[in-house]
Amino acid sequence: MARVKFVAGNWKMNTNKAQAVELAKGVVDGAKSITGVEIGVAAPFVYLDAVGQVVNGTNVLLGAQDAYFENNGAFTGEISVAMLKDLGVKFCLTGHSERRHVIGETPELVGKKAAAIYGNGLILVHCVGEKLEERDANKTLDVVKAQIDELDNKLIDDPARLVIAYEPVWAIGTGRTATDEQAQEVHAFIREYLGKKWNTQFAEQVRIQYGGSMKPENARGLMSQKDVDGGLIGGAALKADSFLKIVEAGK
Ligand code: PGA
Repeated sequence: MARVKFVAGNWKMNTNKAQAVELAKGVVDGAKSITGVEIGVAAPFVYLDAVGQVVNGTNVLLGAQDAYFENNGAFTGEISVAMLKDLGVKFCLTGHSERRHVIGETPELVGKKAAAIYGNGLILVHCVGEKLEERDANKTLDVVKAQIDELDNKLIDDPARLVIAYEPVWAIGTGRTATDEQAQEVHAFIREYLGKKWNTQFAEQVRIQYGGSMKPENARGLMSQKDVDGGLIGGAALKADSFLKIVEAGK
């Protein structure tokens, strides 16, 4: 069964408003002629409205990098899924390593956010990945399994709205990419584990993105692996031309 690849930019805490709009315009322009790959951009919260006005109604999906799990109320500084939907957001990340390891989100919090994002109808992009010391201690698969277990298999029932992003922490923003084989090995394990947790048919339909220093030069090799269904792109997504080259590599 052919899965449509999904290539998404994660802009993180970058750009100002003018740059965000400019970048979005560049992506939309270049994406017009691209079919057969799903494309998304996860912009900073404060620019979602402006970026949404550029991308909504095109073949570029608007994404958010985080969301709180409550719908509304006294949660100073937080942003709900309902608010994101109001701006046309279609997908949202959870469990990004920077939120886990820099901001300090616990597995419990990540799980609650994942449930709220999926439960409110968005595409959930759930990020998993091991730190270097965990890889060196042969704990990669255990770490990834525990992070997938943050997801509720009774709630999540539509494989089209679940995306797993495998992002080895040692490859994020470091210029050091997993080899094609290293990525495929973990992706195959993830699909196998999804098959156990849900069922094989469900697992076959879930897209598993690779993330971590993906760039035009290595994108084709990674995405030609059997279980690599796209990418989550940080640094290389901040320029429309390099991002679009990666998207093209997913065709
Ligand atoms: P990078 O980031 O492409 O800059 O390594 C990827 C990510 O953190 O999503």
